[in-house]
Amino acid sequence: MDIKYIDADLLQWNGNKTYLPISERTNYLSLGEGNTPIVELRNIGNLVGGQIHSKMEFMNPTGSFKDRGSAIMISALKDMNVSEIVEDSSGNAGASISAYSARAGIKAHIFAPSTAPKPKLDQIAVYGAQTHLIEGARDDSTKAAILYATSNSIPYASHNLSPFFIEGTKLFAHEIYRDMNGNLPDHIVIPVGNGSLFLGAWKGFSELKKQGHINQIPKLHCIQAQSVMPIVSAASGKKWGSDDVKPTIAGGIAVGSPPRLKQVTRVLKSSTGTSMSVSENEIKKWQLLLANQEGLYIEPTSAAAFAGTEKLIDTKIIQKSDSVLIPITGFGLKDNPPEL
Ligand SMILES: Cc1ncc(COP(=O)(O)O)c(C=O)c1O
Repeated sequence: MDIKYIDADLLQWNGNKTYLPISERTNYLSLGEGNTPIVELRNIGNLVGGQIHSKMEFMNPTGSFKDRGSAIMISALKDMNVSEIVEDSSGNAGASISAYSARAGIKAHIFAPSTAPKPKLDQIAVYGAQTHLIEGARDDSTKAAILYATSNSIPYASHNLSPFFIEGTKLFAHEIYRDMNGNLPDHIVIPVGNGSLFLGAWKGFSELKKQGHINQIPKLHCIQAQSVMPIVSAASGKKWGSDDVKPTIAGGIAVGSPPRLKQVTRVLKSSTGTSMSVSENEIKKWQLLLANQEGLYIEPTSAAAFAGTEKLIDTKIIQKSDSVLIPITGFGLKDNPPEL
């Protein structure tokens, strides 16, 4: 397929150049995603003994970082005159893709686990997408979506497979470069299920390096829940199978067999990052700490990255003098409320 690119300078970029895979400027269906602020979290920094900044990804239009990917992926599909798509999601990507599909006039079928948080399922429905609730683990929704797409000849527009989605999430890295005036953090700690933000960050920083803007890419660390940790297991040479999956409150990273596992482990190696797993109690503790120490109500999935950062500092993989950036990937109101 011949893909045309627009220059992202057209999207109000200052300075560095990147390109987005959309042939017509008018097909770019932005809802104002991206350009999220970076805020220093001094209280959390004092707690863990490090310099912590967060990029407020929950401030995207549907409340999660997924809007970065959806904006580009759905715009590219619109460019190709696609009118109906199938997607599977733990909730946030489904809500995001439903929103952008509504704007594009594309009919979306979203397959999600029947156990997904109600606010996310309501959000998918309110945008007008057709929700298909699937019993079982997160991966069962993927299987059901693929079967439905194939048997009905509808494009399977998986955000976990589409290269266009990563073209959107890469802007996360370009913004960090722009907003930190080139003084990149030493470490970026990301909650990873399928790796769409993790791989997007790598792509964005790699572009900046290729263009000579930066010499070194920050260490990209991958955090998973102990209940679902295929990437952590692969990175440490341990066996992992779908039978090992246990329930977790971090639904966004509950991906038992991520299709891009090899890519994620390659990026971990190249960026000299570490993968770390965290317990359910650690995730709960950090969700509450973010709220009562910094006034930030974040999803358990996002809290996992803070729990992981504490462990990376404790094990001296991150030194106390290092700078750390943690994306807050999803808004707390979208998930089940924590037990107080
Ligand atoms: C809030 C939140 N954070 C992080 C992730 C992980 O994203 P990915 O599966 O692309 O690694 C998700 C995925 O659903 C999410 O909803």
